[in-house]
Amino acid sequence: MQITKNRIWLLTLLMVFSFACEDDDKPMPPAVERIQATFEYSISPNDPNLVLFDNTTDGEGEFKSEWDFGKGEAFVLDQEGVEEVRYEDVGSYTVRLIVTNEAGNTVASEVIEVDVNGVCPDGNCEVQDSGGLKGAANGFEIGMAVRDSRLSGAYDQALTADFNSLTSEYQMKMNILYPSEGNFDFSAADAIVNYAQANDMHVHGHALIWHNATPSWVENFAGTDEEFEAMIKNYITTVVSRYKGKVRSWDVVNEAIEDGSNTLRNSVFRQKMGDDYISKCHQWVKDADPDVLLFYNDYNLTFDSGKQSAMFAIVDDLKTQDLIDGVGAQMHISYNGPSKSQIESVINGTVSRGLLMHISELDIRANPDNDLTALSGDRAEAQKAKFKEVAQIYNAIPAENKFALTVWGLKDDESWLLDFWGVPDWPLMFDAGFNKKRAYEGFLEGIQ
Ligand code: G3I
Repeated sequence: MQITKNRIWLLTLLMVFSFACEDDDKPMPPAVERIQATFEYSISPNDPNLVLFDNTTDGEGEFKSEWDFGKGEAFVLDQEGVEEVRYEDVGSYTVRLIVTNEAGNTVASEVIEVDVNGVCPDGNCEVQDSGGLKGAANGFEIGMAVRDSRLSGAYDQALTADFNSLTSEYQMKMNILYPSEGNFDFSAADAIVNYAQANDMHVHGHALIWHNATPSWVENFAGTDEEFEAMIKNYITTVVSRYKGKVRSWDVVNEAIEDGSNTLRNSVFRQKMGDDYISKCHQWVKDADPDVLLFYNDYNLTFDSGKQSAMFAIVDDLKTQDLIDGVGAQMHISYNGPSKSQIESVINGTVSRGLLMHISELDIRANPDNDLTALSGDRAEAQKAKFKEVAQIYNAIPAENKFALTVWGLKDDESWLLDFWGVPDWPLMFDAGFNKKRAYEGFLEGIQ
């Protein structure tokens, strides 16, 4: 029996061997080649930040396609049809398609460039420069608070790219223009006005009379009230006449309302010129330059309804004398307040009076509760949303009430808020390196 078994094994082995050799004379099947990954992409016609990716890989046999969309996230298995991906933040994203079969893998890649206008066609961001913020604004200026020491280099590039109205952050105030009796110093103001003229920008004059920028010699004026009034009239007439035809508008009296009581601040101007000092100053400006636009400017006019009412009382009184053209709501706000309806309240009140609306000093604190040591992605998104909300509210007002949307500073690290509150914050549209933040994107989306 054992012999028979051995013969059977031997026979089987011979048969297998013969099959294996049988094919010796047939050509070996070709080695499987790797399949070349290919893809195309396009920008959604309805959303400048949405990219449509199409896997165009064409190959025989089984293969797997995986996407790396360049966001530092895990690979994504390719699905049937087009892959839609949003790119929110400005930057460059290297997108890769990895195609794997039994022979190995191949990679196709493209760099997606994103700027504030969205994904750049064929990676060329210059192509879609739409004239920046000022190019996007319809029927109003985009303003920036400036200093004479910040008008060249990267400042000049940023200002000319996006802004067409300038407000002197502090150098057109009385303590700078009129540092001692009879002694005017227009050097910084002239530099700002000359720069604006050279770059086809408007200048909003800020601020002729302000209790916080009153030279000490004025605070301690030794003459009579009549002499004081004559001195103020001369100061206003001298300054406004100098910039006639160059400064389009003036904040004549800034922040005249006392917080809390909502009465007139008891400033030296009120004490020596009487409660009608505001009307007197507006009249002197108008006498010096009948074409200049007259504004009343103040803060906390959104959530403080008492102060808002007090402001409109001043405005209504000036209106009866034809001594006002517009209201400046400073809008030093936060990412989490005031609310949309509170912002709309001061804007609607101005519009209903047929006056120009100037959002005059916009900045949006990202860290009002001091809960951050660096600007987080979530907080940057919330700040972006607030910039967009303010811009949208402004953009929606009637054309005849539009004037300017002015931001109070270019770069986060230069904001007055840092010293004022003494905590870290990032309240503006550009970071310390002059890079546009999401806040800029939100503002742009809001005015478009
Ligand atoms: O640049 C000089 C520097 O050379 C000098 O060494 C230093 C010390 O004297 O002063 C520096 O100038 C200061 C300037 O800010 C720049 O930092 C001025 O003293 C200082 O008074 C000025 O403060 C300005 C403040 O108004 C008062 O004018 C702020 O920049 C400005 O943001 C702030 O803006 C006001 C609006 O006009 C009205 N609404 C509120 C807003 C914030 O307070």
